[in-house]
Amino acid sequence: MNIARRTLTFMGGFLKSYGPSNIKKLLWDKEFSGGKWNFIDDTVGDCVYPHLHRYLRGGSILDLGCGPGNTANELAAGAYRFYVGVDISEAALDKARRRTLENSRADKNLFVLGDFLTYVPTQQFDVILFRESMYHVPLSRVKTILDRYSKYLRDGGVFVVRIATGCDGKTKYRPQAMVTTIEREFAVAEKAEDNITGATVLVFGPRPPC
Ligand SMILES: C[S@@+](CC[C@H](N)C(=O)[O-])C[C@H]1O[C@@H](n2cnc3c(N)ncnc32)[C@H](O)[C@@H]1O
Repeated sequence: MNIARRTLTFMGGFLKSYGPSNIKKLLWDKEFSGGKWNFIDDTVGDCVYPHLHRYLRGGSILDLGCGPGNTANELAAGAYRFYVGVDISEAALDKARRRTLENSRADKNLFVLGDFLTYVPTQQFDVILFRESMYHVPLSRVKTILDRYSKYLRDGGVFVVRIATGCDGKTKYRPQAMVTTIEREFAVAEKAEDNITGATVLVFGPRPPC
C-alpha cells in the first residue's frame, strides 16, 4: 500500500470512531453501497450465536451496529421475541429490512438509523449486542458507553461483545485493550476465544454494588 493510500485508510478509520455522525454515515453508506461489505452477508454458524441463544431464552435483543441484518435474520426465529437493530448506515439498514421481509420477520425485527454513541433506547432488553462494531467506540469511552446502556438491560440481562482481537497469530492492540477494559470494569460471565476467526466473545453485566 502506498503512503497516500495508507494515510487515507488511517483517516477513514479515525473518522469512523471519532468523527461527527454525519461524516460517519457518509463513509459507511459509501462502503455498503459500493459492495465493500457484501462478504459479511452470510455468517450462519458464527461463534456468537450459541451465546445469544443461551442468554436470550425467547426474549428481546438490541443490536448496536447491526449492519445488513445478519443477527436479525440468522438467529433461530424461536430464540427471540423482539429485536431492535441500530446502525449509522441507511444502505446497511435497507438490506437488513429487505432480508427481514424475505424471512417473514417484519413483526419482530425493527431497524433504526442512529449513532450508537448517542442513541437512546425506548425499552429494556435481555441482551445488548456489539457484534464487530465496538471498534467504532473511542477506546476512552468504552466504559461510559456501556455504563449508559446498562440502564437498558432488564434484570439479569447481559451485554454480548464479539470482537476480533487477533489476526494471523498476532494480537490487535485496540480490540484487546477494549476486552481488558471490559474485564476490569464489568462482571464477566463468559469469555470464549475462537482460534479460527481470531474473535473473542464476552458475555457480561454491570458489577453488583459492593
Ligand atoms: C463490521 S460491520 C458489523 C455488522 C454486524 N454487526 C455484523 O456483525 O454482521 C460494523 C457496523 O457498525 C456500524 N457502525 C459503525 N459505527 C457506528 C455508530 N457510531 N453507530 C451505529 N452504527 C455504527 C456500521 O455501519 C456497520 O454496519
